[in-house]
Amino acid sequence: MQVIHTIAELRAALASRGNIGFVPTMGNLHQGHLELVKLAQLHARTIVVSIFVNPLQFGANEDFGKYPRTLQTDCEKLETAGADIVFAPSVDEMYPDFDDKQLHQTMTIQPPPLAETLCGASRPGHFSGVATVVMKLFNIVFYNTAQPNVAVFGKKDFQQLLVIKELVRQFNLPIEIIAAETTREADGLAMSSRNGYLNANERKEAIVLNQTLRHVAENITSGSRDFTGLQADAEKALRDQNWQVDYVAVRSARDLAEVQASDKHLVILGAAKIGTTRLIDNIEIALG
Ligand code: PAJ
Repeated sequence: MQVIHTIAELRAALASRGNIGFVPTMGNLHQGHLELVKLAQLHARTIVVSIFVNPLQFGANEDFGKYPRTLQTDCEKLETAGADIVFAPSVDEMYPDFDDKQLHQTMTIQPPPLAETLCGASRPGHFSGVATVVMKLFNIVFYNTAQPNVAVFGKKDFQQLLVIKELVRQFNLPIEIIAAETTREADGLAMSSRNGYLNANERKEAIVLNQTLRHVAENITSGSRDFTGLQADAEKALRDQNWQVDYVAVRSARDLAEVQASDKHLVILGAAKIGTTRLIDNIEIALG
């Protein structure tokens, strides 16, 4: 496995290869990330994993500074998983024009309204930062490589997955986006690099988010269509257990719009803070 830090070296290493499977990450890898690598291996010959904590997708008061950076252990895990190339660029390599005082000099992607709801509402600018870095990474990785090319994203970040699918569709990128199911801990907690922020007590309580979304899902599968009532009850249940709730929402899984009577594929999404740690989760349900 090669570990590469510059765009020029990555392009040189990939020039002779085709059928790339790309897995973008921010590192601090857990089993959920490794499942994405496995899925990529089913669809592609050469597996490229990027590790880059992207400053553009963090808000001013978010955890960019303390986000765990564990490149060496990440590379050991990726080597064992059979990845071919790790691309771990510096902030300067990715954003040579980026400077705290000159943010406006970085050209960014303005995503569609799909990115303004839910996490986009709680984290203004987040999905613009995600779309921008993913577009850059796609242009870096898939430069001069023979098709077919695929990129794998997790359903754990359901809204992000839809934003990336729109990026590919609207910018006509010749890349197939493959969605991976959410990998969970034994108790059902969605794996996340941010779970490492939880203290022992918070870790025990963290499962309540998934349980609350499950409860909403059960109500819907047993016939309830009072989505507003279900959302409000779920948010209250979380608040009563000391969570700071950003949202619990039942939406169309296709575009995250409010549910219409004809929608058969729904997703229940939640985002809330336990202590200072913001967790997200979602559950898809098929009706009828
Ligand atoms: P990161 O949070 O490191 O996640 C990288 C990829 O792993 C994303 O596609 C995410 O959905 C997926 N993932 C994380 N936890 C998962 C789990 N428990 N089960 C399944 N998939 C999981 O998402 C990002 O980084 C960044 O926004 C990025 C796309 C790299 C752009 O900076």
